[in-house]
Amino acid sequence: PSADALARAESLIALTPDFPKPGILFRDIAPMLADADALADVTAALAAPFDGEFDIVAGVEARGFLLAGTVAATARTGLLPIRKAGKTPHPTASVDYALEYDVATIEASGDLTGRRVLLVDDVLATGGTLAAALSLVERLGGTVAGVAVILELADLGGRARVPATHAVFTA
Ligand code: PRP
Repeated sequence: PSADALARAESLIALTPDFPKPGILFRDIAPMLADADALADVTAALAAPFDGEFDIVAGVEARGFLLAGTVAATARTGLLPIRKAGKTPHPTASVDYALEYDVATIEASGDLTGRRVLLVDDVLATGGTLAAALSLVERLGGTVAGVAVILELADLGGRARVPATHAVFTA
C-alpha cells in the first residue's frame, strides 16, 4: 500500500482519553476495521515484510484474532488462535504473563512442529502479551517467522521484549 493509503488508515484509529481507566488513551481500531480500503491496506502492510516466509498466522484473543484472520486468509495460510485461559479444552501449551496488577495465561492446542509462524496483534504496548505468545509458539514446536502489529506504543518499551517486531504505525 502507498504511504497515503496507510496514512488514511492510521487516521481512522479513534483516540479516547481516560478509557478504560483515567490516564489511559484508548486507541480503538474498530473504525479502521470498518473501512474496506483501510482493512485491506493494513492487512497487506502487516504481512508484506514476511511474504513467502510463513505458513501459519497466530493471533492472541481477542483483537489479535481479527488481524490474524485477515492476514491468514489473504496469504492463504492457516490460522492458530491463541486463547486466554480456560477456553481451550486440551491445551498443549500454556504461558503465564504479567499484567499491570495481575497475571494472565494464554493457551493453545495443536502441534506447530515444522511450521513457520507469523505472530500478529493490534498493539505492542508493554510487550507482555507478544513475549508470552512467542514462548507459546516455541513450546508448540513452531518457528517464529516474524511478529507484526498495527501500532507500537513506543513509550511503553515493548520493543525491548519483542525486538524484531514490524510495526505498521508507531505512536
Ligand atoms: C491488548 C492488545 C494487545 C495487548 C498489548 O489486549 O490487543 O494484545 O493488550 O499490551 P501489552 O503489549 O502490554 O501486552 P488485551 O489484553 O487488552 O485484550 P483484548 O484483545 O481482548 O482487548
